Amino acid sequence: MNLQNKGYNTKIIHAGQHPDETTGALATPITQTSTFVFESAQQGAARFALEEPGYIYTRIGNPTQAALEEKLAVLEGGEAALATASGISAISTTLLTLCGQGDHIVSSGAIYGCTHALLSHSLPKFGIDVDFVDASNVDNIKEAIKPNTKIIYIETPANPTLAVMDVEACAQLAHDNGALLVVDNTFMSPYCQNPLKLGADIVVHSLTKYINGHGDVVAGVIVGKQDFINQARFVGVKDITGGVISPFNAWLTLRGLKTLAVRMDRHCSNAMKVAEFLEQHPAVTKVNYPGLPSHPSHELAKKQMSDFGGVISFEINGGVQEGQTIMNSVELCLLAVSLGDTETLIQHPASMTHSPMSPEQRMAAGIPDGLIRISVGLEDAEDIIADLDQAFKKAIF
Ligand SMILES: Cc1ncc(COP(=O)(O)O)c(C=O)c1O
Repeated sequence: MNLQNKGYNTKIIHAGQHPDETTGALATPITQTSTFVFESAQQGAARFALEEPGYIYTRIGNPTQAALEEKLAVLEGGEAALATASGISAISTTLLTLCGQGDHIVSSGAIYGCTHALLSHSLPKFGIDVDFVDASNVDNIKEAIKPNTKIIYIETPANPTLAVMDVEACAQLAHDNGALLVVDNTFMSPYCQNPLKLGADIVVHSLTKYINGHGDVVAGVIVGKQDFINQARFVGVKDITGGVISPFNAWLTLRGLKTLAVRMDRHCSNAMKVAEFLEQHPAVTKVNYPGLPSHPSHELAKKQMSDFGGVISFEINGGVQEGQTIMNSVELCLLAVSLGDTETLIQHPASMTHSPMSPEQRMAAGIPDGLIRISVGLEDAEDIIADLDQAFKKAIF
């Protein structure tokens, strides 16, 4: 079916989905195999030489994985995609495919804690130099660019500050300086933002979050030009990280992804209600949510995102102890890391998701010790709000 002129909701359902050739099965089968039998030695040689398309070994590709990749490439508006074992696997595969000794990366300081650890601790071991900046001001990126800068790396909105970066301006800056822009689009999912359409070169996602959406998979994806995805598959995953998605996780993600649009609409509308509740609560001193007119980049968010996502962070009128009382007092919201699940999840970035960063790095990234992050789920918004309200009361506000 030609999906080119079809609506986005139709693409979410039908892209990458082809009735099984042998059985006619509507749902994509789980091809649970590690290897594929060649018809002849010549065919095996031709596949390894990339002269003939076809499967070789599941670390390099698998039909269930391919269906997911086709769908995600369509949804992000990219030429091709590569599904990986985790979001961090997508990021490390991307960076290790593109960079080597002597290369330089300018990264936003406000990023997921383990991505920060990869960039600040691990990549320098391979001779890759990284500078962190406040990327919400493009001039800071410009100042950090060096002749050997290969990549500008951003997350927008950022985890957990919800700072919004100007994708178009970052892409322009990257291209003016012979570099590539890599964007982690996890917080938005392809339904709310498409960085490639704004000029980015590569998009990465943790599929673990909204794209799978049900809290039962760890997986990732890289989307970009066909040539780069070939390199990431045949060098990055095959020879460096080995971080391939399993057929079962690809299948679960395909299943979760079918309802992305309806889930995201509810995540976004629930989050807006919770953000408005938090903003008027006397216990709360600051709310970070791009959908609020008080967000410093609300206008930019409206321009480059179709909605504002389901993650909010906030600071309270109290210290770490009061914050812990709130997190220990919630009954409906669950005290857990991760985001984008059907359940509302609450957590403390400084001691949990962003604990790999030093206190100085967190301070520079705008992550105070008192910040609490909430991933608003699909429950009734009124119940989430009532739960937070009773938890605030227990912390004596
Ligand atoms: C924005 C962002 N990118 C990447 C990751 C890493 O994803 P995964 O846990 O699937 O490796 C996370 C995890 O929380 C994240 O929040």
